[in-house]
Amino acid sequence: MATTAVTLLQILMLTTSLLAGVSSAGDHNPVYSPCSDTTVQVSDGFTFGVAFASRDNFVYNGSLQLSPCDSRLSLSSQNAQIAVFRPKVDEISLLTINSSSFSPDNYGGYMVAFAGRKYAARSPNAFVANSTYTITSFTLVLDFEKGRLQNLYWKRDGCTQCSGNSSFVCLNEQDCAIRTNSCKNHGGNVDCSLGIQLAFSGTDKHFSALNSWYEVENLRQYSLYSLYSNLKDSLTSQYNSFF
Ligand SMILES: *[C@@H]1O[C@H](CO)[C@@H](O)[C@H](O)[C@H]1NC(C)=O
Ligand SMILES: *[C@@H]1O[C@H](CO)[C@@H](O)[C@H](O)[C@H]1NC(C)=O
Ligand SMILES: *[C@@H]1O[C@H](CO)[C@@H](O)[C@H](O)[C@H]1NC(C)=O
Ligand SMILES: *[C@@H]1O[C@H](CO)[C@@H](O)[C@H](O)[C@H]1NC(C)=O
Repeated sequence: MATTAVTLLQILMLTTSLLAGVSSAGDHNPVYSPCSDTTVQVSDGFTFGVAFASRDNFVYNGSLQLSPCDSRLSLSSQNAQIAVFRPKVDEISLLTINSSSFSPDNYGGYMVAFAGRKYAARSPNAFVANSTYTITSFTLVLDFEKGRLQNLYWKRDGCTQCSGNSSFVCLNEQDCAIRTNSCKNHGGNVDCSLGIQLAFSGTDKHFSALNSWYEVENLRQYSLYSLYSNLKDSLTSQYNSFF
């Protein structure tokens, strides 16, 4: 993690294969740095990072939206945090960052997902939290072409998941937010651990289509969080009503 050697967060990563107890086929991707280029096939591991900082920290010279791997952003000297994940390509994964050790509003409140160097891809920045509001649930789509990451983006579905629940506020007609002072790490009683659901789209290096995106779309109507039984007690009690 050369240029972005910021503190690693405590990371919890669960995949459906883990929970289903099936040993998935081998991981043939030797690249473990989120700041290197690679091409992948189905069931390889793929390493990417999520950086937390203020919105301005993700912009260079006023307008250039660089990857957090680009040393010109000098994130390591800013008030920033990096989490690194290695999910399996084409498996639905739910990544969580435990809020008992991390409070995004203390680190600028925005996040960017990123991977690669010469072929760097980064997501638009997403608002996570400030002292008023905290968003705890995101869906990140990793879009590949012939196994190379092309695009990372946040998929929103409006505020359908929280409409009608007065505990939530719908921000910008796209994100369900909780009041930050209801979060455990701010004196409230809601576990505001951040959950990032992943989906893969496009093609792998053998031109096989990556389909987990369609599964997410279909699963959304059911309780996706209930797939993750380990998390259910700690993280999902607050989601039960709308998943
Ligand atoms: C910064 O932006 C200004 C104006 O857009 C440009 O003239 C200048 O060359 C840029 N500096 C660097 C180091 O890229
Ligand atoms: C927090 O973010 C919300 C939504 O972006 C904004 O309306 C509000 O003014 C912000 N509050 C503070 C204290 O920055
Ligand atoms: C977060 O960490 C705390 C303390 O280690 C633990 O009690 C809690 O269950 C964790 N929450 C989740 C969602 O894993
Ligand atoms: C609203 O969300 C809160 C927090 O997750 C939950 O405890 C409550 O039961 C929900 N209320 C309704 C009406 O769904």
